[in-house]
Amino acid sequence: MVPPGATGRKDKPCHFVFPFRARPLSCRVATATVHQAKDAEVTDLTYIRVEWDGDLVVVSVDRQDKLNALNAEVVSELGEVFSSIRDDDQVRGVILTGAGDKAFVAGADIGELARMDSISGVRVSRQGQEVFRSIERFPKPVLAAVGGYALGGGCELALACHLRVASDDARFGLPEVGLGIIPGYGGTVRLSRLIGLGRAVELTLTGEMVDAERALAMGLVSRVVERSALLDASKSLLRKVTKNGPLAVRLALESIYHAVDTATAEALDLESSLFGLLASTEDMKEGMAAFTEKRSPDFKGR
Ligand code: COA
Repeated sequence: MVPPGATGRKDKPCHFVFPFRARPLSCRVATATVHQAKDAEVTDLTYIRVEWDGDLVVVSVDRQDKLNALNAEVVSELGEVFSSIRDDDQVRGVILTGAGDKAFVAGADIGELARMDSISGVRVSRQGQEVFRSIERFPKPVLAAVGGYALGGGCELALACHLRVASDDARFGLPEVGLGIIPGYGGTVRLSRLIGLGRAVELTLTGEMVDAERALAMGLVSRVVERSALLDASKSLLRKVTKNGPLAVRLALESIYHAVDTATAEALDLESSLFGLLASTEDMKEGMAAFTEKRSPDFKGR
């Protein structure tokens, strides 16, 4: 049994990722990274940094000498971090970004890919898909703050997030076909849903990069900001979401992403059920009372 807040890989002993998490909120260092935290030596994250800012968590891929490329360890650590904060009520939203000023993530690690055969190729793709799927189905909003290169697996990682903000120097692309492979972390599935079939096919088959303005025009990102403002603008957008009823946000995500995979009639059924479910919550009463009383709601997530 993995205790809450602990990582639980089968091949490694359990380590608490957030040893400070159980303390009262006021005791928590607002922007302490896992690496900086006092008990950090019990963590085993090499390539992922985790910082708190109030009820937001900023998760950064930090492998700057390789432009944050996703090797197996990075993918595994990403999975661990998302799984460890998934059921933490104190987390209301997550920002996923890349450390340094050159890249969000410049793709899967080409050195590793070069060594795969057809069996391990399937495994690599599946492992990445699983982690990216856990991000897509994360019960709290996840925003990709993209600065610099978001190529291949990096672009696919941004696609798996719920919201995307880019800095003006961002570059998106799926260059895989130029390496003799195809996107394997969900890119052939998610890109067309987001920007339409025609544009997705062109981007995937040409392997060309698009700049931030073009990404904005095609709906790949919803906002472009100056590089220096990327994190603040991302937090500000995410806070516009997290100030709303947490259960409502969660179930809106559930309804939207469930609908992507199901027929309309079934999706509408689920929407009605979730709508009804929310009508039994304290949050709904609070939201409606706050409107009537002309004040801000104080949602409790119940
Ligand atoms: N996998 C492994 N290493 C990568 C990488 C990747 N996807 N992307 C960049 N790197 C490494 C480079 O090999 C280099 O390492 P080195 O210093 O040990 O040689 C380092 O990151 C810096 O990259 P570099 O190519 O020198 O930077 P640049 O500014 O000249 O070019 C890119 C930047 C992003 C255009 C270029 O690195 C690139 O095309 N990367 C591959 C992108 C890609 O095809 N991704 C999809 C993979 S499926």
